[in-house]
Amino acid sequence: VTAQSDTDFRPNFHFTPESGWMNDPNGMFYHNGYFHLYFQHYPDDNVWGPMHWGHAISTDMITWKEQPIALYPDEKGYIFSGSAVVDHNNTSGFGEEGKTPIIAMFTYHDPKGEKDGEIDYQSQAIAYSLDEGKTFTKYEGNPVIENPEIRDFRDPKITRDEVHDQWIMVLSADDKTMFYTSQNLKDWELASEFGRGLGAHGGVWECPDFIQMNVKGTDEKKWVLIQSLNPGGFNGGSGTQYFVGDFDGKTFTLDESMKGVGEDHSYWIDFGKDNYAGVTWANIPKENGRTLFMGWMSNWLYAQEVPTETWRSAMTIARELRLEKENDAYTISSMPVKELKNYRGISYQEKDIKIEEETKLIDSSKIDLTSAEIRFKISDLQQSNYKFKLSNSQGDELIFGYNHPKKEFYLDRSGAGQTEFSEDFANKISVAPRISEDKELDGVIILDKTSIELFYDDGKTVITEIVFPNYPWEQLSIIPENGELSLDEIEAYQLKF
Ligand code: FRU
Repeated sequence: VTAQSDTDFRPNFHFTPESGWMNDPNGMFYHNGYFHLYFQHYPDDNVWGPMHWGHAISTDMITWKEQPIALYPDEKGYIFSGSAVVDHNNTSGFGEEGKTPIIAMFTYHDPKGEKDGEIDYQSQAIAYSLDEGKTFTKYEGNPVIENPEIRDFRDPKITRDEVHDQWIMVLSADDKTMFYTSQNLKDWELASEFGRGLGAHGGVWECPDFIQMNVKGTDEKKWVLIQSLNPGGFNGGSGTQYFVGDFDGKTFTLDESMKGVGEDHSYWIDFGKDNYAGVTWANIPKENGRTLFMGWMSNWLYAQEVPTETWRSAMTIARELRLEKENDAYTISSMPVKELKNYRGISYQEKDIKIEEETKLIDSSKIDLTSAEIRFKISDLQQSNYKFKLSNSQGDELIFGYNHPKKEFYLDRSGAGQTEFSEDFANKISVAPRISEDKELDGVIILDKTSIELFYDDGKTVITEIVFPNYPWEQLSIIPENGELSLDEIEAYQLKF
């Protein structure tokens, strides 16, 4: 066997651009049977550069078809992150007979201004599409929001606020979120600000999202602010936190249960190192009621150094977010979208396995572990302490498990293949579980060639990380620690694309 690199590292099913650099997901909306995904893109190199909006479409958020670039940088600057909405009622006036306008809002980043040491080099602009998101025309009145002398002033995310019959837009500005409202998507009014002194502030706030969600199993509705920051994430570098509260049409008020939330908190969309700048899809049909999310599966600590050449970065699997209330506290859980089930091929299942020593569960003759969904249940957590090990014939090992005495989930990629490209890559991360003591533990593991996504306890604790093994994973084993362990169930599905 020879070590794999570059094209061998291309994921089997996570979205990657055909070539060049990618970061944040942008402008996600649903229209006429298609999910649209735009993304921060530099087509001419495999590192960050003058930003474009790349574009891809999908009917199910799993399999993507890349499209021609949708937005190019121009004399006003690079096209930074932003959002897009379908303007069904033509509130913007950009619509034409039989053509529903799609409005994209993005940040212009003027590299000249930045170089000259100005601070007002980021402003907000719009563009519209009359061909369902294929091509966009930039609005002649840009920018629609000028810079108010704030250095980091970017990433507009628009949401239709049905409750107050208006458009709302959230923007990250240094260490806070700014809330704007509009009737026509062109004229924006600053309504309020949120966040100074609340939550994690180890870095600049970026890429916010603001959505109303139903509290699972109740009639209650809450507003959720998703707010990425870099650095200062839960396990270092880039991370995405959230806040739950109420919204009166102008001001977002933090829920009582989160009052005074400080630097160290547990309100993170993901506890791994590789899920950043994620936001939700706009215009998901109401009867569907889902909140659908996707993030950039990397971290600014090392994104530009990972060992791929022709392209860099992938997106996470699309996820459904749920807002849950337990003991008066709110938690966002996420699980892979149900559409992933349509790709299940052959499966393997075993029940009630007593594990006394390191035991092989699956090998690549049964299920190809570079394209797999694995579900497991372990009850009686009181005594259990286990770890899973993914391994290959090159001696790479990816370890993840649960340490009960320490009460932590962990993932250790330090021996899992190529790590030398960055000193921030080879590490072990951990997080305290969000599960109650007496419950059994269930987990879903999504494996691609170069990523692992762990969803524990119905997605209440999620860990996403990328990994670059020298050879594809060939074996999954379980290792009990502190005596024997009962693996109640393991189910593995081959995913076929
Ligand atoms: C987040 C980010 C955004 C910005 C974009 C530039 O990863 O820094 O704030 O708009 O990337 O590519």
